[in-house]
Amino acid sequence: MAELNIVGVSKSFNNLKVLNNISFTAKPGKLIGVLGPSGCGKTTLLRVLSGIEKADSGKVLINNEAPDTCKHKIGYVPQSLTLYPWRTVEENVLFGLEIRGTDKKSSSELAYNLLKAVGLYEFKDYYPHEISGGMKARACLARALAIDPDVLLMDEPFANIDTQTRYYLQLEVLKIHQKYKKTTVFVSHNVEEIVFLADTVIVLTRRPATVKKELDLSTILPKPRSIFSEEFLNIRKNLIQLIQEEFT
Ligand SMILES: Nc1ncnc2c1ncn2[C@@H]1O[C@H](COP(=O)(O)OP(=O)(O)OP(=O)(O)O)[C@@H](O)[C@H]1O
Ligand SMILES: [Mg+2]
Repeated sequence: MAELNIVGVSKSFNNLKVLNNISFTAKPGKLIGVLGPSGCGKTTLLRVLSGIEKADSGKVLINNEAPDTCKHKIGYVPQSLTLYPWRTVEENVLFGLEIRGTDKKSSSELAYNLLKAVGLYEFKDYYPHEISGGMKARACLARALAIDPDVLLMDEPFANIDTQTRYYLQLEVLKIHQKYKKTTVFVSHNVEEIVFLADTVIVLTRRPATVKKELDLSTILPKPRSIFSEEFLNIRKNLIQLIQEEFT
């Protein structure tokens, strides 16, 4: 299990400042929920954490070292839930292992376990256009887990999924997080989802995003959480207020 440190990260695109001095730590095996208004820089933050984008200043550390593709593996579930259309669900899940040259036997065992874990085993031979949005989200999650990542990054994976399915998938993410214990950064603008899943919540301001609040939920709201409990509803309300302030 890895510790992820984000230390004073800033990032601009041309003259547009998007991230401003962002710092927080994801302790090993913990799920950090990042909340922020639309367009504030959440995806940019994940892209910097994944190494796809480079920070202008500040640094990202995995176990106190600069990220190194030979040493560290990062699983990424993108906001767009993109899968390769010409590959089946199983072939998509195994893509990362294939390019790493993992042998067929261990790959197929892993695929079996992961597809079972995300409830997609019976759809393993389907192509992306033959599965639902919720199934795509699960396939992307299984693909990210297949490489046995040190850090798992999830970018609003359920944004376009109906509320009922979303509840179900949130429960699955919780189970999978408890099973695989990956250090995870889960980005969303859905407050309820974050309060349900996160050990620690980071609230970002509007762009340029700074950390407005860091809230440790692990002691005040032990898991599993009921979305109807008074404590849950109070925390949800406080976080909604914090985000609404960003629109005024
Ligand atoms: N590659 C890029 N080049 C130029 N500007 C970019 C690039 N990527 C993001 N931006 C800008 O950075 C800002 C933040 O975008 P980002 O996608 O990180 O926001 P977000 O919080 O993820 O939004 P949403 O909630 O809608 O997903 C936006 O103003 C966007 O136009
Ligand atoms: Mg985004």
